[in-house]
Amino acid sequence: MPVIVLVGAQWGDEGKGKATDLLGDRLDYVVKFNGGNNAGHTVVIKGEKYALHLLPSGILTPGVVPVIGNGVVIDLAVLFQEIDGLESRGIDTSRLRISANAHVIPSYNRSMDKVAERYLGARRIGTTGRGIGPTYADKMNRVGIRVQDLFDESILRQKVEAALSFKNQVLSKIYNRQAVKPDDVVGELLSYVERLRPYVGDTALELSEALDAGKVVLCEAGQATLLDVDHGTYPFVTSSNATAGGACTGSGIPPTRIDRVVAVLKAFTSRVGEGPFPTELHDKFGDHLREVGHEYGTTTGRPRRIGWLDLVMARYAQRINGVTDFVLTKLDNYDDLDEIPVCVAYEVNGVRHDEMPISQTDFHHAIPIFETLPGWKEDISGARTFEDLPKDAQHFVEFVEARIRARISVVGVGPARDQVIERHSVLSGA
Ligand code: GDP
Ligand code: IMO
Ligand code: MG
Repeated sequence: MPVIVLVGAQWGDEGKGKATDLLGDRLDYVVKFNGGNNAGHTVVIKGEKYALHLLPSGILTPGVVPVIGNGVVIDLAVLFQEIDGLESRGIDTSRLRISANAHVIPSYNRSMDKVAERYLGARRIGTTGRGIGPTYADKMNRVGIRVQDLFDESILRQKVEAALSFKNQVLSKIYNRQAVKPDDVVGELLSYVERLRPYVGDTALELSEALDAGKVVLCEAGQATLLDVDHGTYPFVTSSNATAGGACTGSGIPPTRIDRVVAVLKAFTSRVGEGPFPTELHDKFGDHLREVGHEYGTTTGRPRRIGWLDLVMARYAQRINGVTDFVLTKLDNYDDLDEIPVCVAYEVNGVRHDEMPISQTDFHHAIPIFETLPGWKEDISGARTFEDLPKDAQHFVEFVEARIRARISVVGVGPARDQVIERHSVLSGA
């Protein structure tokens, strides 16, 4: 004990990677439990920038054991590219553990993702094109390929052939693509086997033993609450459970062992890809926040859609995840603004909603009700205590905290590891 789950409160890119890195030297294990290389975490350490997609952010902290849990989908080419990239910069990746039950993303699922999006046209999701959705679909259809399958060539061949017997029909007859040869897929997957072997194990057992030995484990979500396949803005979501519940199914750590849930909440909102976004900005304020916040996708380079902070959403994230502590990031991106609107409720067809509307149609029609707070118009990037913040910035934090049903324990005032204000310990509840 203890187990801490760290999730995103909005549509991703809240600064989860930095938050994990901040806690890094207090942790023994960091487990990625969902998603794959659709994630993009930028972490800045001593002026050096690291962009991680598949590996848990904990890999950057010496001594932490990074774990890729069973709930993750792994593109093996990306895995080894990322490992090689970090090794060439002097980061030791040898501690990495990978669940034998995690699924791999075969190349045909990258093709399926891209052609399916093209086929959807105006109804597309705006996926990252990494094969995430088709690979989770295969998992649920029980035709997926797991890491452990790579260690038994005849099983692997049977599974690839079974998956392709259907997929090749779809690729050739519906999407007009060339059929994929099972031998090519098997050959590619087998080419990784020897490199993969030392990392693979029963990570659920290893984590259970670590917890019995008193180790500290952080489960780090990719994506975020509103991108969760069950609790997000379906169908404009990813295909995994990015909320706190996913930490249990995606790692094998039981719910009774989880102590704290930390949600990372950006001081404004961003979204990549399609889907409803009540507080979205299409004006100079959106452009300004995109520029000062460098809001361009880490994975696809797409400009992120930007909007004001939405407290209906933050309250929802608190409720769905059981958040004990919030990390409020990027407060410094407001430094130049005269005033800051914050969405406190929605109006849908003339009715006020303090909670997320249940229906997709109502959420599409939600009009934000704003309260406007004064800006502080000064550089807060050097603040290290709450008292260092100008009064109006303190007021902003307290205003938000009073409306999201959990305390704001950490405030981010810049991208670097030390640019934070720690008000409370997220690990101990003190
Ligand atoms: P993640 O996917 O949740 O890990 O977030 P990303 O890494 O995709 O996006 C967050 C971006 O904000 C990264 O470029 C971080 O370096 C940066 N960042 C995180 N916290 C802060 C903060 O408090 N202030 C500023 N200015 N940047 C931050
Ligand atoms: P991190 O971990 C922001 C979005 C995609 C798309 C939808 C489905 O960096 O916060 P997918 O490829 O997952 O099937 O795409 O989800 N998306 C993200 N948006 N941050 C992410 O990860 C995302 N991962 C997926 O843009 O709208
Ligand atoms: Mg990101």
